[in-house]
Amino acid sequence: MYYNIVTFGCQMNVHESEKIAGMLENLGYQPTSKKEDADIIVFNTCAIREGAEDRALGNIGNLKKMKKANPNKIIAVAGCMTQQKQVADKLFKMFPFIDIIIGTHNLYDLPIYINKKLKENKRVNENLSEGKINENVIASRTSGENAWVNIMYGCNNFCSYCIVPYVRGREMSRKKDDILNECKNIIAEGKYKQITLLGQNVNSYQEPDIKEYNFACLLKDICKLDGNFKLTFMTSHPKDISDEVIELFKTEEKILKELHLPVQSGSNQILKAMNRKYTREHYLDIIKKLRIAEPNIRLTTDIIVGFPGETEKDFEDTINLIKEVKYDGIFAFMYSKRSGTVAEKMQDQVPEDIKNYRVNKVLELEKEIQKEKNNE
Ligand code: SAH
Ligand code: SF4
Ligand code: F3S
Repeated sequence: MYYNIVTFGCQMNVHESEKIAGMLENLGYQPTSKKEDADIIVFNTCAIREGAEDRALGNIGNLKKMKKANPNKIIAVAGCMTQQKQVADKLFKMFPFIDIIIGTHNLYDLPIYINKKLKENKRVNENLSEGKINENVIASRTSGENAWVNIMYGCNNFCSYCIVPYVRGREMSRKKDDILNECKNIIAEGKYKQITLLGQNVNSYQEPDIKEYNFACLLKDICKLDGNFKLTFMTSHPKDISDEVIELFKTEEKILKELHLPVQSGSNQILKAMNRKYTREHYLDIIKKLRIAEPNIRLTTDIIVGFPGETEKDFEDTINLIKEVKYDGIFAFMYSKRSGTVAEKMQDQVPEDIKNYRVNKVLELEKEIQKEKNNE
């Protein structure tokens, strides 16, 4: 029996697909890259922007024929998109060939639903409003020399544009011993050169049972593990990165000299409306400290253009901030309205053509900076 997993979205989802693979292999399935050969196809979806949802819908819709040709093929949809109940219900109605729809909090029940489908031929559309950390599923890793390790789940920040807190629930950190054991096993396997710690906001990691054990403590403990490996992490929220963590770029050889530090906007007014809880000045101060600790640090960021109310002046502030920091890489996105978020109801939504113009401006500037850096 064969499985095929289609993944959308962030590294968190990429790694969760490795856990889905682990569960399916446990049931006796093997991987195949060909959907036609698969006995089960799982879509692991993302809801971050409208485009991500549309792509998933298109991909799922395309399976109708394949299901007709082989009605025994199981089709399952999981992830952030189907954690939104109204979306899950719509999909369930719209695509009768989908067998299983689950959300983010009941992902680990997938084997139960597969058995239900096989034994009782029952379609399932199940969704839980909150979840628990599951330490029992072993990931079947597929990402080459890099091993992903979750340190926390969920997000408490409620940036006004963002769907993640609604589909991933509140922050929950794993126990440090569980994380350290997973890292030890990864190193012992000998296949991996790099460990990437994952969380929506890794800097707010908090050991559930040890009060003073924070993200810096965890980084130091992982660096102490024997073995030849590099350590990196994502994503960092600027409001929570501590001086202690910044110093580790200087003192810990195993930590890669790179940091993804999403700024989103260079305008204080927009940052406030986004509920990011830092100012442009605070952000630039962090960049300064990072470059003092490690002058060659590679810095990357995320930018959202066209957030509601973003004026030409606000956008200029973003452009100037990018010029000042001279990032090594930028992920630029056009603001996408997400249902249920605070920004959805904001006045002054920015027209698509202006968003388009601004996103291109950012990408052009990024190219220029890269050229300049390459010349150097
Ligand atoms: N937890 C991470 C980011 C997760 S989402 C952090 O806080 O940095 C990845 C990126 O998608 C965000 O940094 C943001 O730039 C972008 N994004 C999130 N919601 C968006 C929306 N509604 N429209 C456009 N881009 C969005
Ligand atoms: Fe979304 Fe903000 Fe949480 Fe990142 S920190 S996942 S952007 S709410
Ligand atoms: Fe998308 Fe969910 Fe990640 S919404 S960006 S897959 S946490």
